[in-house]
Amino acid sequence: MVDPAPAAGGAAASATRAALLTREGRALVERLTPWDEARALATLAAVRREPGWAEHPDVVAAAAGQARLRTRAAARFPGPPRWWTEDGLQQATRPEVAQRHAARFAAAGVSEVADLGCGAGSDALALAQAGLAVLAVDRDPAALWAVAATAADLDLPVATRLADVTGPSHWWNADPSRDAAGCFVDPGRRAGRARLAAPEAWSPPWSWLVGLAERVPATGAKVAPGIDHALLPDGVQVEWTSVAGDLVEAALWWGPLRAGPARRIATVLRGSGTAQLDDAAGVPRPPVGPVAAWLVEPDAAVIRAGLVGVLAARINGHLLDPRIAYVATDTRPQLGAFGARYAVLDMVPFGRKPMRAWLRGHGYGDVVVKKRGVAVVPEQLRAALRLGGDGPVATLVLTRTDAGPLALLVEPVPGPHAPDPRAASRAPLERPGSGSDGGGRAQGDARPRP
Ligand SMILES: C[S@@+](CC[C@H](N)C(=O)[O-])C[C@H]1O[C@@H](n2cnc3c(N)ncnc32)[C@H](O)[C@@H]1O
Repeated sequence: MVDPAPAAGGAAASATRAALLTREGRALVERLTPWDEARALATLAAVRREPGWAEHPDVVAAAAGQARLRTRAAARFPGPPRWWTEDGLQQATRPEVAQRHAARFAAAGVSEVADLGCGAGSDALALAQAGLAVLAVDRDPAALWAVAATAADLDLPVATRLADVTGPSHWWNADPSRDAAGCFVDPGRRAGRARLAAPEAWSPPWSWLVGLAERVPATGAKVAPGIDHALLPDGVQVEWTSVAGDLVEAALWWGPLRAGPARRIATVLRGSGTAQLDDAAGVPRPPVGPVAAWLVEPDAAVIRAGLVGVLAARINGHLLDPRIAYVATDTRPQLGAFGARYAVLDMVPFGRKPMRAWLRGHGYGDVVVKKRGVAVVPEQLRAALRLGGDGPVATLVLTRTDAGPLALLVEPVPGPHAPDPRAASRAPLERPGSGSDGGGRAQGDARPRP
């Protein structure tokens, strides 16, 4: 059952939101979607002159706001339109990830979930879609209005409650004996535009979340993927998830929500595929060795989960440096979606001048720079190399090794991690064979965890 939209948050704001859900309000939002920012002023002025809307500029502005949010949300949230708030859209879990959260609760036999800090309801709606009874709680009345309105439109059983979830009178804080009920928490991790790195500064804070999991066995949470491993409590299963190469979250699963014996899981979502690595069989410490025919850049979820050793063992690989997450191997790596694969074509002299001379001498017209563990800003280096010719684009990997920094000329190999469209191939100086999976272009530093 869906509660009516809460009245708090200012009577005028509440009345404006209510007006959006009337037939006329909905028709206006639909008419303004997709929102054309370039024509915003003219569009708003025209609507405000229309009979019926001239007296309600606040509702016109709110409808324009919804149209703008729906337009921004369209690619990430396909399917029936939803109601949003600015913060709610920014913080919303991607639907394919929210479905996976919901599936954990469903598989554990949990029938009722309190989504504590539900925002605009991406997780709450996915839980309801999975057949669970959902109580969506937030202290932001506009967010609660959005989740209630979308749930009503989709005919989903989401009850809403305007409250501070840390309040002592709630069952999850006072009476932990509701066996069939679970909790999901996705703490707010921003203050204005700034990201809050310290978990205790999140809202609700880390210590409250850990205490909740001690009271309610079926607790799940979404946290920043950069969470310090040392903070993770005993017994929790942690799942790092990437979507199309973007590391999006670490999910914490306690009690019956854990799946299997692993403590750490890397989940890689690409297209319609899902691939997982875990530490159930241990994490071997990868050996360190020289440059080889292939170079593998593990997916960010694999790196953050501390599972580079598992991946390296799978592909018979070694690290070039114990602290850098590039894996080298002479065996053509069967990587699936777990990383990007490159054929190593040549070694390039390190340093701007020799690098420029080498690249020019070999006929390259531009360069894509990828780097780990070296103090280089890829775009600055590219500009400083001043290639600017018609020749093909070289892909350079710069990395630290025990023997000093190294520059490798590589060729991305197409596969689940899409190749860089700007990188043109050229005849390899020493071609290590060809393959059909792997390849990619994530840039920046990452270190393997033991
Ligand atoms: C990251 S968002 C949740 C997003 C949601 N999981 C989704 O996918 O749509 C966090 C929400 O927690 C709410 N929140 C933060 N602290 C709270 C508290 N103490 N009590 C209630 N809600 C809180 C914020 O208002 C915000 O809407």
